[in-house]
Amino acid sequence: MFKIVVCVSGGGTNLQAIIHGVDQGAVENTKIAKVISNNRGAYALERARQAGIEAVCVSPKDYEDREAFNQAFVQEIEKTEPDLIVLAGFLVTLPVQLIHRYANRIINIHPSLIPSFCGTGYYGLKVHEAVLARGVKITGATVHFVDEGMDTGPIIMQKAVAVREDDTPKTLQKRVMEEAEWVILPWCINLIAGGKVRVENGRVFVSE
Ligand code: GAR
Repeated sequence: MFKIVVCVSGGGTNLQAIIHGVDQGAVENTKIAKVISNNRGAYALERARQAGIEAVCVSPKDYEDREAFNQAFVQEIEKTEPDLIVLAGFLVTLPVQLIHRYANRIINIHPSLIPSFCGTGYYGLKVHEAVLARGVKITGATVHFVDEGMDTGPIIMQKAVAVREDDTPKTLQKRVMEEAEWVILPWCINLIAGGKVRVENGRVFVSE
């Protein structure tokens, strides 16, 4: 069984899509071993518990400095020995040691077509506000491996979503989630669990 840990900070709709994918068999041979949040109030934790998944909060507020938090966070991950770490709306910068230890075994979902509207300051609704302000006609979502940079790792999959003239940041966010994020994140996990994804020179290749 391929073991994943999902890290979350907020509502957890992407987590829900993964749970659904596992339950329905779209994500094969995979177990969500644990859900970790930095935010005690994250509804994602509740979603995990309702699905019978261990749900843990590791909050920076409970530690005296960043180093202590990082250590606790890494320990929580390592207890589970996951095959893959999935960042599903996780708004905390990962400790560099974790990124090295889990090279090409951490993925993130970002709500734009990277390299547009990504990097420092681009998260959640802010991404969609920036998309509308710039007036692009196509946006979407990206699943990528996590490296030391901010949204710079090898791209695994992207899905485009049309921007409408009457979109607000909220309507656009909802459509990007429904049409792109909830589709490609479980899909990518299934491909990785099935051993179908390899990274070569910073590029991702998917085999049938
Ligand atoms: C999602 O739109 C995800 O792409 C985004 O946060 C939202 C979390 O929603 N992530 C980022 O912006 C990361 N840079 P959810 O908690 O309902 O899955």
